[in-house]
Amino acid sequence: MNKEAFLRWIITVLIPIVVLYSNGNLQITWAMPKEEVETVRIGANLELTGSVAPFGHSALKGMQLAVREANAEGGIFGKQIQLVERDNQSQSLYAQETMRQLIVDEKVMAVLGCAASSNTIAAVNWMEGTSNQVPVITPTGTNPRVTVRTDGRVRDFVFRACFIDPYQGNIMANFVINSLGIKRVAILTDNSSNYSKALTGTFMEQLAKNGGSVVGIQYYLQKDMDFYGILEQVIKEDPDAIYVPGYYEEVGRIVRQARAMGYQKPMLGGDGWDSPQIVNIAGTDNLENTFFVNHYSSSDPNLRVDKFVEEYRKSYREEPNALAALGYDAAKLLIDAMRRSQEITLENVRVALEKTNNEDFVTGRIYYNRYHDPIKSAVVIRFINGQQVFKERINP
Ligand code: PHE
Repeated sequence: MNKEAFLRWIITVLIPIVVLYSNGNLQITWAMPKEEVETVRIGANLELTGSVAPFGHSALKGMQLAVREANAEGGIFGKQIQLVERDNQSQSLYAQETMRQLIVDEKVMAVLGCAASSNTIAAVNWMEGTSNQVPVITPTGTNPRVTVRTDGRVRDFVFRACFIDPYQGNIMANFVINSLGIKRVAILTDNSSNYSKALTGTFMEQLAKNGGSVVGIQYYLQKDMDFYGILEQVIKEDPDAIYVPGYYEEVGRIVRQARAMGYQKPMLGGDGWDSPQIVNIAGTDNLENTFFVNHYSSSDPNLRVDKFVEEYRKSYREEPNALAALGYDAAKLLIDAMRRSQEITLENVRVALEKTNNEDFVTGRIYYNRYHDPIKSAVVIRFINGQQVFKERINP
């Protein structure tokens, strides 16, 4: 490098540029070498190790596929998208630290994640306590508190690609009455999870509205191994079905143990059932006559689903679950909003996200209500021979 080039390099590359955003926030960014200036950096804050690592890995694969496809189409205004991937270890505290690293150290334009509601809530609480807000889209965090604070204020920069828990609780309660034609249901709730408790609440309310009744309810905790005691308590009431709105690990053991006790009637759940591991934990035969609400089904007869499943299989040699589909859709939501922004600023992308309204998503059409929750369809899935089989799509 000659002297002049070196000087130019110092001026254009090394000197920090102070950017004054219109909202008055002072933000310091460093001019990067040319290759890096040309990329749009998006963070992924995901559960890649720890208790729900399969959730994070599936979501990440979906995100990576969407980013690869978008880059092949020319990226965003000619700039390539770079996904900056970080592991939050399935823990709230690390989810916050990961958010800090992505926004402050890595200077990403937006964050995709986390997968679990509790981690997402912790991460966005941290972000809102700083002056470093960027658009955040959780692919799969279904708890209402992800986008709305406890004081009722909508979080300006936080969005989701999935429906919310009250909605999936209602859908299962309607399915029980309308499709299964049964009324007396028992419930096993994971008392260590906001997700499970929220689903239990809305399911009970809607079931009662529909003329059904809860004939027994028992509680367990994450990592519990032995459910025979609480199963005995509910099975003695002879319920027509047992609703288990938990995560796949405990759910798998519960289904296995209920069947071992001779309970063959329907067992029901929500999106927390969606992991390939559930088949190994519960056992293929034990999963017969079980149904759960999900965001999408890879066997849904739909062109967009077919195309996604084909591309995903090509890349990863496995079937995409709902987390993968939502990871893909979360990335597409962001890329779509960035492409609709005249110029990519945080505020433009935020407003563009709010105005999202199109049918190009794998999990169906997405548009937002004022709580940043998408209005969208759900599906009910049935296990047959250990395979998730599409049963029906339910529109909002
Ligand atoms: N909905 C769960 C949560 O909010 C995460 C999840 C989504 C789990 C989809 C499984 C499948 O914590």
